[in-house]
Amino acid sequence: MGIETNLVDLKGKEFSELPSVTENSNNNSNANSKSITSTNKNNKSKKNRRRHKKMLLPVQKLYDTCKDVFAFGGAGVVPSPEKIERLRSVLDNITPVDVGLNQDMPHFRNSVARRNPAITYLHLHECDKFSMGIFCLPPSGVLPLHNHPGMTVFSKLLFGTMHIKSYDWVADGPCNTSSSIVNPSESKFFLLISPLFFLLKAVQHPEMRLAKVKVDSDFTAPCNASILYPADGGNMHCFTAVTACAVLDVLGPPYSDPDGRQCTYYLDFPFTKFSADGVSVPEEEKEGYAWLQEREKPEDLAVVGALYRGPAIVEH
Ligand SMILES: [Fe+2]
Repeated sequence: MGIETNLVDLKGKEFSELPSVTENSNNNSNANSKSITSTNKNNKSKKNRRRHKKMLLPVQKLYDTCKDVFAFGGAGVVPSPEKIERLRSVLDNITPVDVGLNQDMPHFRNSVARRNPAITYLHLHECDKFSMGIFCLPPSGVLPLHNHPGMTVFSKLLFGTMHIKSYDWVADGPCNTSSSIVNPSESKFFLLISPLFFLLKAVQHPEMRLAKVKVDSDFTAPCNASILYPADGGNMHCFTAVTACAVLDVLGPPYSDPDGRQCTYYLDFPFTKFSADGVSVPEEEKEGYAWLQEREKPEDLAVVGALYRGPAIVEH
């Protein structure tokens, strides 16, 4: 994976056209003529800036908007509703052509017979505030259930049909280490008094936590970008390609192992599979809940990086 490097510093070029404002002459007419020239240049420059603004490519507009929306971002920081709507609106106007994609590209074909077809990731940009990239999924491709710690994430389906299933943790919900419920405060107590006991239990039965289903639907492009937040909106999700499809993801802030924002994968089990003493859920709502259990990165998950070949982004 790599960032497109043929970048042109348009901003620098634009400002070099601004006139010098130094005027130090006793000759009034000369000064006036300089002043008129200066005014003309100013107008010309303003027009150039307006034209440049009008000509902004959609992917450049996306980058510029992300830069502003996530300027003061960090783990757990959700941008203001106004900023979220602005970014969502920019994303909703992005088409596959705007990022150099078409459905005949090899990324969307199953070249090798695999149970889980390889997914291609096109890296557009990453800095410490946000990242932008495109997942290209052949039919039946699956991005398994994973989380987005402390992040606000925008996912824009560019084409195709994709099934999204997402969950949020049930606040103060129970944890289940086997078939019985363990009170989380008790777990912490055990952790304090006996790390070995806790470790042993975790190895034998990785903890399961109760989660609530947020989304469980097929989406077909064109459709609006979906948004998830650090604690709601479906922070843990799984993408399954019903047809070949592409999804443009914007993450703020991005994953970062050193900062403790690593990607965790989960298995999901029906709510009814385990007992949940003390939790009362009406029969007809039980399908809306599930137990999530941490797992290793799935062995059959293959995400390969490829060079983004769409319009270049001018980074600043
Ligand atoms: Fe994701």
